[in-house]
Formats: sequence, structure tokens, C-alpha cells
Amino acid sequence: MMTADAAPIPLVDCTPSEGARAVAAEIAALVRARRAAGRGVVLGLATGRTPLGIYAELARLHREEGLDFANVTTFNLDEYLGLRADHPQSYRRYMRERVWRPLGMSLEQGWIPAGEIAPSQVDAHCREYERAIAEAGGIDLQLLGIGRNGHIGFNEPGSPRDSRTRRVELDALTREDAARDFGSLEAVPRHAITVGVATILSARRIRVLAFGESKREVLERTLSRPVGPEVPATFLRGHPDVRLFTDLASAHGKAAR
Ligand code: PGA
Repeated sequence: MMTADAAPIPLVDCTPSEGARAVAAEIAALVRARRAAGRGVVLGLATGRTPLGIYAELARLHREEGLDFANVTTFNLDEYLGLRADHPQSYRRYMRERVWRPLGMSLEQGWIPAGEIAPSQVDAHCREYERAIAEAGGIDLQLLGIGRNGHIGFNEPGSPRDSRTRRVELDALTREDAARDFGSLEAVPRHAITVGVATILSARRIRVLAFGESKREVLERTLSRPVGPEVPATFLRGHPDVRLFTDLASAHGKAAR
């Protein structure tokens, strides 16, 4: 039986570069429309390899077409705990180098959970992050990748639908996938701060990207497993404005272009 929960995620069959251009164009249109109306835009942003093409295209639009991000506020999904802000693998550094600086944004426009924070302050920090998102007006458009274990943000398997920003323990597969970038498994932090599943689902639009054979199995599980914490990405099914850009769509016979 179909339930609202089980509503399929519309798939967009595309190459990684087509997907990057399409999502960047959607963001650019949103930024321009809001600017024309004298309003701001709140973007929820992801790190990792998947969104790099989007950020490169947005930087090109900024450089070559004068796309102005002065009316944009960004909130990142997550950050490793225990890394210095300038650590090569910190997501704050990724954002500074790949997004905020290339898009001409000031650091005050970009929010990301703190990676260097005393354990006693983590809960208050997480509450403050949620409050900042709410005070900004909520997320207009959330970019999202999917981890091979089905995580969204660092909402690892077991994360409930009603979860909010919090400290989490990283899953073994997540740490294994990060080990290449860190140089060794031991160097990968064990904990992180992530926004919750409920935080992600509160976004008005969600644009998910998943490319390449390494994502085939998790995509299959995201689309076909029962909705639930075992595969957190399944919670995206039923969101009123979600779209998944992928080069694996033909395998599912559900492609929509
Ligand atoms: P990736 O990470 O973009 O580096 O594949 C995706 C994720 O873990 O969410």
C-alpha cells in the first residue's frame, strides 16, 4: 500500500556535470529572484566530493556573470569534532576554500557547526545552531549527498526521523570512506556534530546527488527499503519537494528528465 512516507523520490537522469549545472542554475535563479524581491536566500550546504561541481559552477557564475551572493546565508550539514578549524580535512576549511571565498561571501554569511568545542558546550552549541537556522527563516534549498551506508549529513544508520542537531558517533563505513583523505583510519575523528533528519526534512526544497557505481547499492536501498532509521536517506521519500540527480536512474526505470 502506498503511504505518504513511501512516495517515490523523483529522479533526474543526468551525468555529474549535467547535474551540477542544473542544480547550480536552480540556485542561481533562486538567488536572483530573491534579490529582485529584496529578500535573502538560505541554503543548506553539503561537503564531500559530490557537490564540488555545483560549487565550481556557482563560482564561474559569480566570476563570469556577476552572480552576487550578498543576499545568501549558508548552513552546513555537519563538521568533524576534534579538528582544528584550519585542519586540511575540516569542513570549515573546505567551505572557506571551495565555497565562501570563491563566491565572494563574507565569513559571517556562512554557518557551520564548531569542530573545536569543549564537550560541555556541545549541547548548547547544537541548540544555538538550530535557533540560528530558524531565525534566518529556515532553509530554502538543501543540497545533499548520500553516504554508502545511507547517511544524510552525518545521520548514520539508527538516526530517527525526529532527530535535530547533535553530537554523533561516526559509523565504521563512514570512517573507512574518509580514511583515504585523512591518510589513515586512525586519523579520522570518531565523532561529529550533524544537523538532524528533522532539520534536513524541514528544508523547503531538497536536491540530492548520487553518482557512480559506488553509490548504486545505497541508491537502490534508498528507493526500495522500508522508510526508517536503518537507511536514513529513505526519510527523503515523502518530502514535498525533493529531487535526486543521478547517473544510475536507468537501473530503476523511473527516470524523469
Ligand atoms: P561524497 O559523500 O560526496 O564524498 O560521496 C557523500 C556523503 O557521505 O554524504
